[in-house]
Amino acid sequence: MNPYLLGFRCTRCEQMLDVEEALYTCLRCGGNLDAHYDYAGIARHVNPAHLIANPNHSVWRYAPLLPIGYPVPAQDEQRQAELRWHPLTTFGDSPLIRAPKLERLLDVRTVWLKDDSRLPSSSFKDRASSMVIARALHAGIQTICAASTGNAASSLATLCAGVGIQAVIFVPRSTPEGKLAQMLVHGAQVYAVEGSYDEAFDLALQATREFGWYNRNTGFNPYTREGKKTAAFEICEQLARFAPDTRAATFRAPDVVIVPVGDGNIISGLHKGFKDLVNTGWIERMPRLIGVTAALAPALYRAWQSGSEQITPVPATTIAGGISADLPRDGVMALRAVRESGGLLIEASDEEMLDGIRVLASTAAVFVEPACAAAYVGLVKASRSGIIRPDEEVVLQLTGSGLKDVKSALYARAGRLIPIQPRIEDVRRFAEG
Ligand SMILES: Cc1ncc(COP(=O)(O)O)c(C=O)c1O
Ligand SMILES: [Zn+2]
Repeated sequence: MNPYLLGFRCTRCEQMLDVEEALYTCLRCGGNLDAHYDYAGIARHVNPAHLIANPNHSVWRYAPLLPIGYPVPAQDEQRQAELRWHPLTTFGDSPLIRAPKLERLLDVRTVWLKDDSRLPSSSFKDRASSMVIARALHAGIQTICAASTGNAASSLATLCAGVGIQAVIFVPRSTPEGKLAQMLVHGAQVYAVEGSYDEAFDLALQATREFGWYNRNTGFNPYTREGKKTAAFEICEQLARFAPDTRAATFRAPDVVIVPVGDGNIISGLHKGFKDLVNTGWIERMPRLIGVTAALAPALYRAWQSGSEQITPVPATTIAGGISADLPRDGVMALRAVRESGGLLIEASDEEMLDGIRVLASTAAVFVEPACAAAYVGLVKASRSGIIRPDEEVVLQLTGSGLKDVKSALYARAGRLIPIQPRIEDVRRFAEG
């Protein structure tokens, strides 16, 4: 256990829970929990320059700022050896790619893409799954269940493979085949629920109570946010490493980070990560966080417009499965992320997201799924309306690979196949227009 972890505080009633007590939500009011650290102690003993110079680029090198510093307990020597090179213990440092064509197209000084489609299961969710699996390994738990729109589940299945933990999954029947294939091939038990993500979520909670499994549901399990915040650490460290002054001794924050939002756990995780870095004094200021929701999943956007933290569920019908939530399960913390950072929420239509897939693929060489393309829609709208100024440095958080959902890419009018016989005359006919 991390000695700098002080406990978990309820985000609603503020009650503090001991680390051991903090399993899921607040025992008093049901609010989501948030981990608290001794930042002064961390800052006294850890130096960002050492992290920048550290050749180990896995997420686990941020141990002092994580609830669990390494997924496998030291005393479990056999598993330590077996998992030495496993994706669970080695992943991290996803690419930060500059997108100069987008900069010119949208008149923004610097646009970076933080490409988490290149994590082990091809989505951002590996950051959360790894932290939950670490907790399970330390507690000797053998089964983890999760409800998911697809990526959280395929991530859990991927990172449990070979680790000795059984993944049990609840997903809507409509989940794209690529994600289902990942879950099955990695050996998860997969319940395809005839219903929405929200119904699968509630069913997973019931199953947790009945069968005693450990539950990874987004937001409900406080370790998911703690894992997701590692993206913020990596962004600020990579920007420092890329700085012209290679002796940079501290991290560097961008001006704006744009994030697709469904349950709101990714944006709340990034917010937590940047807050951690402000609290340790490793960055000077918080970037503005812009969240992008689907227009056809409007519950959170309506709460944002109303200025309150009251979120009323609304049935979601968007094709962007990853951000299709009736009731965002970490919605309160997502609203705080945008409000406290001076950011905002923006809505993206299904058409705009499909268009975004094509633009990102053809200009920046990244292939993303619709939910992820929402970040690009946010960039377009925020730069055209002056919310992002032309001299600012922006990071788009990319969250999931398009290879998991090729049907949506084909809807995106990606181009047409040219059906021909194996004859050069046919090629000539089309090549010459
Ligand atoms: C590709 C993708 N992007 C964004 C999100 C949204 O994350 P959150 O639900 O934490 O807001 C998800 C969640 O499933 C996702 O799969
Ligand atoms: Zn509470």
